[in-house]
Amino acid sequence: MITERVKELISEIEQTEVANKEQLESYRMRYISKKGVVTELFDGLKNIPQEARRAVGQELNVLKNLAQNRFQEFSTAMESSSDANPVLDFDLTLPVVPNQQGSLHPLTIVRRRIIEIFERMGFNVSYGPEIETDWYNFSALNFADNHPAREMQDTFFISKSENAVKDDVLLRTHTSNVQVRLMERQKPPIRSIMPGRVFRNEAISARAHCVFHQVEGLYIDKNVSFKDLKDTLYHFAKEMFGKDSKIRLRPSYFPFTEPSAEIDVTCFICKGVGCNVCKHTGWVEIAGSGMVDPNVLENVGIDSEEYTGFAFGMGIERITMLKYGINDLRLFTENDVRFLRQFEGA
Ligand code: DAH
Repeated sequence: MITERVKELISEIEQTEVANKEQLESYRMRYISKKGVVTELFDGLKNIPQEARRAVGQELNVLKNLAQNRFQEFSTAMESSSDANPVLDFDLTLPVVPNQQGSLHPLTIVRRRIIEIFERMGFNVSYGPEIETDWYNFSALNFADNHPAREMQDTFFISKSENAVKDDVLLRTHTSNVQVRLMERQKPPIRSIMPGRVFRNEAISARAHCVFHQVEGLYIDKNVSFKDLKDTLYHFAKEMFGKDSKIRLRPSYFPFTEPSAEIDVTCFICKGVGCNVCKHTGWVEIAGSGMVDPNVLENVGIDSEEYTGFAFGMGIERITMLKYGINDLRLFTENDVRFLRQFEGA
């Protein structure tokens, strides 16, 4: 009986062909798996009389080897053919994996926001060179040749002139050079902001970098007053940091403005109560500013009796750090995606 069954199965296996993975799997279930027919026959061995058991066992082993060899053949054949003719073993109805999109750099987000706020107040955007002469970076801005403020800016010089300091070539230390270039080529009224990279010979640390970004602002017209400066920056602070923001002006000094003021905004993290970010003062500094010094206007051929103006300059890194609570400048240039991803959708 059992011998008949073995013969049948042998011929069945010999005639079997598999064309795809499903058929291979049915083959495996039927002849190889623990629940298959071959195992079932082996289980039946114990009911065979002792004398016949050995012979039947041998036949079963032949069947089992055949089944396994064929399975091996089928699998190998399928593997090599699947390269040429791939079997679609994935679900075409699944939703697609979304494209990983990059995000804007936080400095870009903040620069764009600053530009947007000032554009709505009627400012346009101007740019100027990063490699500059001393004239545009210092002299025209009323820095005397030996003024200590030159030293304070840790300038990277490209070449020193043998004749005149104003001809030295350097990397600009601030965006104020663009003010001068703008006033030189455009008659008032001028209402412009000037974003850009600036360079200073500073050791890189959490609080300082040799390359950073500023936005300069300039408004020149008849009757521009200190109140205009204050109103403009007050509006900016509310737009940038929230409508409850207040500003305060502290007397300061810049060679190119008179009077000059440092602009503070109420700390929007603690709302003025005092925290780490504002060093428990309730205020954070966001810009330098002032009324354009008449000497600067005269240097670029604008009549300082007829025109007045205000200027301001702010660091984009600083505003970004305040806005997002970032405590290390180096994060901006390390390109660590764990940092950058946090600005997705910002
Ligand atoms: N240029 C100054 C700096 O880099 C910032 C600044 C202060 C710009 C006052 C201005 C200004 O236009 O009026 O430190």
